[in-house]
Amino acid sequence: MSDRTIEGQIALVTGANRGIGAAFVEALVARGAAKVYAGARRLESLEPLVAKLGDRVVPIELDVTDGEEIAAAAELAQDATILINNAGVASGMGHGLLDEAAVQTGREEFEVNVFGLVNVTRALAPALQRNGGGTIVNLGSVASLVSFAMAPLYSASKAAVHSVTQGLRVTLPDTLVVGVYPGPIDTDMAKEIPFEKTPAIDVANEVLDGIESGAEEVFPDPMSKEMGAAFLSDPKGLEHQNRQMAAEMAQG
Ligand SMILES: NC(=O)c1ccc[n+]([C@@H]2O[C@H](COP(=O)([O-])OP(=O)(O)OC[C@H]3O[C@@H](n4cnc5c(N)ncnc54)[C@H](OP(=O)(O)O)[C@@H]3O)[C@@H](O)[C@H]2O)c1
Repeated sequence: MSDRTIEGQIALVTGANRGIGAAFVEALVARGAAKVYAGARRLESLEPLVAKLGDRVVPIELDVTDGEEIAAAAELAQDATILINNAGVASGMGHGLLDEAAVQTGREEFEVNVFGLVNVTRALAPALQRNGGGTIVNLGSVASLVSFAMAPLYSASKAAVHSVTQGLRVTLPDTLVVGVYPGPIDTDMAKEIPFEKTPAIDVANEVLDGIESGAEEVFPDPMSKEMGAAFLSDPKGLEHQNRQMAAEMAQG
């Protein structure tokens, strides 16, 4: 076992009440995490998770756009060794880049996906440092790697998450900073997406395996493994392929 083994660690997960976030809480508890702070905008939305998993799950009210809630969560989670920045929105799904609506929804996407992530990380970083550096996991997307026509500003926000992930590695050299780049995952966020979807629990387990082995990038499903390999070997080729797919979809 490496010293990054999940057993005995203390994690904070944002957006923990459903989807991939709830799967992270479940997988952390199953691997013997000592405590999981589960953040959600509404405390009552965490009741099913606590009922299922017991008192190792500590519910906290945490809207990642609310500075006071972030400060209170950080004060409580002084013993954390893992931060999972999972909370995210894709409110502009279906808006083209030149639609006025895309700008409005894009602001919300940046507020939650980028600035929320940065502010939660800023608040938790001192505790992680005191606890030996620890691990930060950032949920990017395959949309961090190429821009998807059906979600252009969501893609831009996830590209920013990729850049922030790289920046954190420079700023926090003692911390393992893991970027996660999922393709379509079976959650509410992806319910309108017409692709085969991977179960959320598989993503959580691939990421926990990644933490234990010290991986800096995790591509947790078949589509992301393919796109991740293409991005790393031939980023321009992937962009061309994505443009061609968008043109074919537009033609029907
Ligand atoms: N599903 C996919 O195909 C996919 C693919 C690539 C990346 N991702 C990323 O994976 C992460 C989790 O997505 P998911 O699929 O699990 O989505 P989801 O089912 O829509 O869940 C999103 C979670 O984020 C929370 N959230 C939204 N705004 C928040 C805020 N301001 N403060 C705190 N929590 C907030 C939601 O809370 P409420 O219940 O209060 O709304 C919910 O718990 C996101 O970052 C997403 O971008 C997802």
